[in-house]
Amino acid sequence: MLTTAPVAVRRCLEEDQIRRLEARLVRDHDLVPPSLVHEWVESARARFARATVREFVPLLVERAVRARAKDFPRGLSDLSATGVSGWARNTAHRLLAERLPRRWSHTAGVARRAEQVARVLRVEEQDLLVAAACLHDIGYAAELVGTGLHSLDGAEYLLRAGVARRLCALVAHHSGAAAVAEVLRLGDRLAVFEDESGRLRDALWYCDMTTSPDGQPIMVNDRLSEIRERRGPDDPVVRALAINVDERLAAVRRTHRLLRRTTE
Ligand SMILES: [Fe+2]
Repeated sequence: MLTTAPVAVRRCLEEDQIRRLEARLVRDHDLVPPSLVHEWVESARARFARATVREFVPLLVERAVRARAKDFPRGLSDLSATGVSGWARNTAHRLLAERLPRRWSHTAGVARRAEQVARVLRVEEQDLLVAAACLHDIGYAAELVGTGLHSLDGAEYLLRAGVARRLCALVAHHSGAAAVAEVLRLGDRLAVFEDESGRLRDALWYCDMTTSPDGQPIMVNDRLSEIRERRGPDDPVVRALAINVDERLAAVRRTHRLLRRTTE
């Protein structure tokens, strides 16, 4: 069918095949950050840009990406056994696993990604990233809900529990929470926590934005579509996307560039 269809249709079909292949590769290679899988797909594809026989391009791209994924260095899996991230993991599990199992699956996926992405940070910040990943969504737990802005509710709970202010602030501001707070008129209350800029904060956003609600790796654009679809147009998070989508994408891009450097 591919060979007899007009060129534009064939290009469209191939693009569709490649995107489905990419989603499969992202799922199959859980240890590789999704933005790297995307880059590998595009670079493999570029090598076959002039090929006249197109049928085998997806297969060749798949082979090339799987070969690179096989050589990808493993994450820092011993992190979770030490430092504040061990406490954070237990706390998140206690608050989410039983009553909000899907939220827990997502959290566990974000934490796994954090272990992988932590390589872009200084050693002393790596455990903090994993801890923030574990705690970022605890504000959804019924006993923590106060304002209804989960990032703020989680951060205020952590502050009351005596957790270091920097970790509270990372949770408070994760993934564009400031814009959601503006929509909900909670900006002043969120502003109690400082929104730091830099690698650690970007990496946390990256991990959240490349993990599906079920904890599977996902491309950032698919994640954004999923958020819009699941929450609907009136949801404050979706309304806030009009303000913060570029900021979210920029954090993902910056982290991706650092990841690429650490794997070259
Ligand atoms: Fe999340």
